[in-house]
Amino acid sequence: MQNILYYNTITEIMETLEAIKFTDPFPHLIIKNYYNSKELELIWEELNFYTKPGKLLSAEDFGGVVDATNSNAIPLDELYSAKDGKFRNISNILTLNRKLFTPEILNTFAEVHDCCSIATRCNWDYTKVRYYHNGESYEPHIDSAMPFLAFSYFYREPKKFEGGEIYFPKYDYELTCENNSIIILPGWVEHGVREVKIQNSDYYDGYGRYCISNFFGSRSRSQLKEPI
Ligand SMILES: [Fe+2]
Repeated sequence: MQNILYYNTITEIMETLEAIKFTDPFPHLIIKNYYNSKELELIWEELNFYTKPGKLLSAEDFGGVVDATNSNAIPLDELYSAKDGKFRNISNILTLNRKLFTPEILNTFAEVHDCCSIATRCNWDYTKVRYYHNGESYEPHIDSAMPFLAFSYFYREPKKFEGGEIYFPKYDYELTCENNSIIILPGWVEHGVREVKIQNSDYYDGYGRYCISNFFGSRSRSQLKEPI
């Protein structure tokens, strides 16, 4: 366990976060209670806004991997990319998830293992909001084009669903994705999401499992100009 003390420039308060470093079975960092109550309120405003008919997109509609998942998502960068990214501030999520790139948090992750050390050179990232409701899952896969992954999890309490764990079949390892926790790991780690099971719940009542997936790393200048 390591305490991370830092000044949150968005909410303008000093915060202490408790990070847990793991090197086994692969390097990763977990921070519970990741966002404070003010940040959470803003994130839920946006998650609620997206949880309406016609907004969450299937994999075939946004260019995701059709055979791997039946869950829906919204690629936020595309949505707010106009005017060279000047519209990004309209998204609470894209604004608040800059927290990952504060030196205190990125350095803590970089220290977990040498293979994480270049995370501090990050100059590129990409964010998706993903929602899993009854019967939805993600097959094990490797995000091979993504140097690092950061998944933060959200669900309404009391929790109504079962399943939804992130699992790592190669390592016989899985994690229950606690509400308001984040896991940061290298992109070469194979991972999947177990099927979410939820009874007596309408898709749009928002009682499923939300994940804000953040892919990040460093890219060359020419790569930065290419679309994803
Ligand atoms: Fe993935």
